[in-house]
Amino acid sequence: MAEFLNGWKRSHHCGVPCESELGQDLTLMGWVDGKRNLGGLIFAYLRDRSGMMQVVFDESRNDRATFEKAEGIRSEFVLAVKGVLARRAPEAINPDVATGAFELLVSDFKILAVSETPPFMIDDDSETNEMLRMQYRYLDLRRPVMQRILALRHRIAKVARDYYDAQGFYEIETPILGRSTPEGARDYLVPSRVYPGQFYALPQSPQQFKQLLMLSGFDRYFQIAKCFRDEDLRADRQPEFTQIDCEMSFVEDEEDVMAVHEGFMAELFRKIKGIEIPLPLPRMKYAEAMARYGSDKPDTRFGLELVDVSDIMGSTEAQFLKDAIAAGGSVRAINAVGSADKLSRKEIDKLVEFVKTYRAKGMSWMTVTADGVKSTLAKFMTEAQIASLLERVGAKANDTVFFVCDADDEVVFAALGALRLELAKRFDLIDPDRFDLLWVTEFPLFEYDAEDGRYYAKHHPFTSPKLEDLDKLESDPASVRAKAYDMVLNGYELGGGSIRISNQELQKRMFRALGFTDESAAERFGYFLRAFQYGAPPHGGIAFGLDRIVMLMAGTNNIRDVIAFPKTQNASDLLTQAPNAVDDAQLAELGICIDKRGTE
Ligand code: AMO
Repeated sequence: MAEFLNGWKRSHHCGVPCESELGQDLTLMGWVDGKRNLGGLIFAYLRDRSGMMQVVFDESRNDRATFEKAEGIRSEFVLAVKGVLARRAPEAINPDVATGAFELLVSDFKILAVSETPPFMIDDDSETNEMLRMQYRYLDLRRPVMQRILALRHRIAKVARDYYDAQGFYEIETPILGRSTPEGARDYLVPSRVYPGQFYALPQSPQQFKQLLMLSGFDRYFQIAKCFRDEDLRADRQPEFTQIDCEMSFVEDEEDVMAVHEGFMAELFRKIKGIEIPLPLPRMKYAEAMARYGSDKPDTRFGLELVDVSDIMGSTEAQFLKDAIAAGGSVRAINAVGSADKLSRKEIDKLVEFVKTYRAKGMSWMTVTADGVKSTLAKFMTEAQIASLLERVGAKANDTVFFVCDADDEVVFAALGALRLELAKRFDLIDPDRFDLLWVTEFPLFEYDAEDGRYYAKHHPFTSPKLEDLDKLESDPASVRAKAYDMVLNGYELGGGSIRISNQELQKRMFRALGFTDESAAERFGYFLRAFQYGAPPHGGIAFGLDRIVMLMAGTNNIRDVIAFPKTQNASDLLTQAPNAVDDAQLAELGICIDKRGTE
């Protein structure tokens, strides 16, 4: 039944024709998006990536064979249609479609391909379950919203290429099969056939290669790079994702790098959204971000800031608060303004359970009414203490104040940081049209792991400490700040980078602080360290998560929506059914024997 084009050429995309094409003969090609058969008239929409056009088959105008063929078309058939563009009668105009004032009066058409009935409707309202969409991703991608998102992704990548090219960055590719890199997630490993028992690691980022390119004298590098990390997936994380990865030479001050890359962000917003972002972007130190927002990626579109009330609460009779503070922790509060009449006791209990998922042992609260406060903590407090507490958090009648206390400040921050976002969602405090961009700076250089009893690099071991903090590298590592910066948009980490260590002596001290001996550092990073013996320029860089940029610009909070062929939350590809078992012969060739005990 399917026909060949046989010389027919497309004249326009379906969503393009307008006033200027009225009365002209057009040839459109695309997929049938629904058909209505009114007896002597058949209406169908023809859809391609640009949009849709109504096409009309008319028994009184078309020859019999053509009209009968039209009766047989169904959704998702692929057609080539010739006809004259006409204006629709005013009452027939469809305001929901960009070309809704026009229609193509068909003179001839070809069925280029037939289609089975798709497993779900190809439309933007489709409530189809995501598993089915993933399984038939090629159909899901036909939906106009997906077409728009991938077009947006293309445009963002194009702006990136143009911007960095204009700034003197060369696009250079780096290998996918390589050696493990130190970003800190689990590696995806690829067995070597030539060297049985040995493995390549897929890059978690091009970090070391981009630094080597600076040592090679390329001065400025960028790449739209695939990265692979075997880590727990979240709504904004994929095992295989894309970075806009950059590195530049002869910079030592973070500001020099940040200025170039905030310029990129401003360009993106200008070209993609038509929004002028004032530069320089706000800078916020890590310590301030944690203290005010409980997060190193603060969503600054709304208030509900954290307030340290340790001094007030530590002087009350509440022993559990005193103990936590004495152990080095804190009590911090959030004032959920105007929420007392909106939060039932049951809802507050649910919020308490919610913060417990962030390791908080519990949460206290205080509701302020016209006749005073109600709180489980009130019995431990004097009138004066309550008054100074209310003043500190700015609480008035009908406010609810939430308190989290822990011996570990990190727990307090994580719990209240999450509560803050939850309250904002619940009370609809976020303006979805607002874009709050900022830099978070002065991250700690190290992270202490109490279980292992040692320090890890918070970013990676090639990140430079602040030169002012060098004298504390050995004596007080926890207080050393890094020359690292993250760009944050609406509570998401869009990108992060640092000034690197280019001084060999400093690199050795850094490794020592991380618990490496000279030998173990040489064993792990030997080739990299050797390169620094041949003249390394001072350098620094950043990597943006392209998927996250697209996600936020497209207004979705699901990273899978912006990747053509994403993995599920369980890291599988439902379309191709990857990962999959392979032949024994293939395994034998790789010298691999599967231990099936844990998998059956
Ligand atoms: P980092 O690990 O911070 O830095 O990654 C940079 C940016 O990549 C994005 N990103 C992800 N996006 C989706 N899924 C993931 N699993 C994922 N992991 C990271 C984030 C993040 O901000 N080599 C350094 C950069 C440098 O120092 O120049 C690096 O990879 O948006």
